[in-house]
Amino acid sequence: MKKLKDVFLEQFGQDGDLTHFYAPGRVNLIGEHTDYNGGHVFPCALSVGTYAVARKRKDQKVKFYSTNFSELGIIETNLKELKYEEKHNWANYPKGVIAGIQENFVDLPYGLEIAFYGNIPNGAGLSSSASIELVTGIVVNELFDLNIDRIELVKLSQKAENEFVGVNCGIMDQFAIGMGKKDHAILLDCDSLNYTYTLIKLEKEKLIIANTNKRRGLADSKYNERRQQCEQALRELQHELNIVSLGDLSIDEFEQNKHLISDDIVTKRARHAVYENQRTIQAVEKLKQGNVEEFGKLMNESHKSLRDDYEVTGKELDALAEAAWSEGAIGARMTGAGFGGCTINLVHEESVESFIADVGRKYTEETGLTADFYVVDIGDGAKVLSEVDV
Ligand code: GLA
Repeated sequence: MKKLKDVFLEQFGQDGDLTHFYAPGRVNLIGEHTDYNGGHVFPCALSVGTYAVARKRKDQKVKFYSTNFSELGIIETNLKELKYEEKHNWANYPKGVIAGIQENFVDLPYGLEIAFYGNIPNGAGLSSSASIELVTGIVVNELFDLNIDRIELVKLSQKAENEFVGVNCGIMDQFAIGMGKKDHAILLDCDSLNYTYTLIKLEKEKLIIANTNKRRGLADSKYNERRQQCEQALRELQHELNIVSLGDLSIDEFEQNKHLISDDIVTKRARHAVYENQRTIQAVEKLKQGNVEEFGKLMNESHKSLRDDYEVTGKELDALAEAAWSEGAIGARMTGAGFGGCTINLVHEESVESFIADVGRKYTEETGLTADFYVVDIGDGAKVLSEVDV
């Protein structure tokens, strides 16, 4: 943070008080592609994230700088000109959030300048973009004393991503980042936004993220197609059933009514959404009972359903999950949108080192790529940093 402050001063000059902020990345433990289907998710905030140093200006200018994209220099715009611009690249995320605050809450009296630094591996599906959105939300909320409720900032960030940037994501990432709590995962019902925290108390196990290092582009991936297929399934089921989302269905209800869906592929997509939602609820129960083994088995089933029914895994994620299964992981599954990105693994503590070595070797043999591994440390949600933290 000291360094980021220096970067800020170097880029924007001395003059006025600086405030420091942080928003994490996230990893989802189970409940994949359920958020936009009105189902449950179970993500947690990571201890890596996006740091921001910010200050109000005396005019209407808005300036951004990121040490991660230093080659792009300062990106400058104006409070009255906050529209999506291709050339503004990463800065469209903070622009979208500020535009959303002005549209839904209040016109800001002054512009601002923000310097960012992020240590979330980029393009790995650990939500670096939602992290930038949330950190921007709390910057503006704090600097201008807006008192916007945290869940409103979460919704606004998702909206910025959907409408300003044009990525049709659900609410999971922004929620996990905005509402995360150290050492806890969040069971979120994405329909009602009711949520509960579950303490992740692993006595003899570790959570490990494995990065395929195959970059995934959410916007140009099959993500939107999956959403449309689920919407089709819902519409067809609604001809006879009184439901608002696939998340409303029990497994029995789905099995009794799946004949209403006219297309086999669409049926598979809906089957994943319904089973994954129920699996998530069940998995959290198991974890609360201290039944880590059962939780792990449900993680494995989640991956298989994402592979076979939802078809969002691909060669790299499958290779990484299969290597983990064969190397004694208690559970392993892809996490996030899929099509590349990361797996999340539950591993016996004493075998962490050999796990990383052996899974890494197998993955390279299988794909020619090198995986990265990170032991998960569950951190806090987005926050203003005090002098002590800095
Ligand atoms: C991405 C989206 C989330 C969610 C996941 C899949 O991370 O941003 O909203 O849909 O994919 O679970």
